[in-house]
Amino acid sequence: MSKLRPNIVAPSILSADFTRLAEQLQQIEQAGADWVHCDVMDGRYVPNITFGPFIVEAVRRCTSLPIDTHLMIVEPEKYIKAFIDAGSHHITVHQETCTHLHRTVELIHSLGAKAGVSLNPATPVSTLEEILPFLDLVLIMSVNPGFGGQKFISTSIEKVRKLHLLRESLNPELIIAIDGGITSENAPRIRSVGADALIAGSAVFNAPNISKAILQLRQTD
Ligand code: DX5
Ligand code: ZN
Repeated sequence: MSKLRPNIVAPSILSADFTRLAEQLQQIEQAGADWVHCDVMDGRYVPNITFGPFIVEAVRRCTSLPIDTHLMIVEPEKYIKAFIDAGSHHITVHQETCTHLHRTVELIHSLGAKAGVSLNPATPVSTLEEILPFLDLVLIMSVNPGFGGQKFISTSIEKVRKLHLLRESLNPELIIAIDGGITSENAPRIRSVGADALIAGSAVFNAPNISKAILQLRQTD
């Protein structure tokens, strides 16, 4: 029997208009977004720099939605506490940046947040087999991390499918999220293979109508 899976939409503020961030956060909340995705980039792990805990703290004051923080930074363990203190409900680190991934996941849990691990397009799902029972979320990157507005890498569909099979035996409660190049056109297919949470930046904030865009991303066919 197939279990009813969550149907989560998480707009990434990377594509928001930062001159009116509070207003944009209210718009997505009113439109029924489930989480706010905050993309943290350090110019070392990825070739772009965004923001730190200071902005996450400002986001927290503008919304009641859970804050899903995606750390695209080297040595994430140094900054996890600061991002949780700033109001992050979920912390996702990259598998590729953690020498002691289990320790990092334990640190996130000990500070009271949900723990996620992200995989770059070139990192196989099989690298998560041992850590999977300890995770709340896995974030499959469907573009190379660093920028919004890139094209969806189609082999990510197969990765979601593989992860979905793996979670059935290892961690049925695991949330599968996917990030990069998500549109209303590819969303139904991505959900059909097992993705529970779609992260979308440009498809939400560059759309002429944000509410409509969020509604379309939730459609399953
Ligand atoms: C990319 C970020 C994504 C990005 C997605 O490194 O992790 O969250 O904002 O943007 P779109 O939806 O435009 O591909
Ligand atoms: Zn992201």
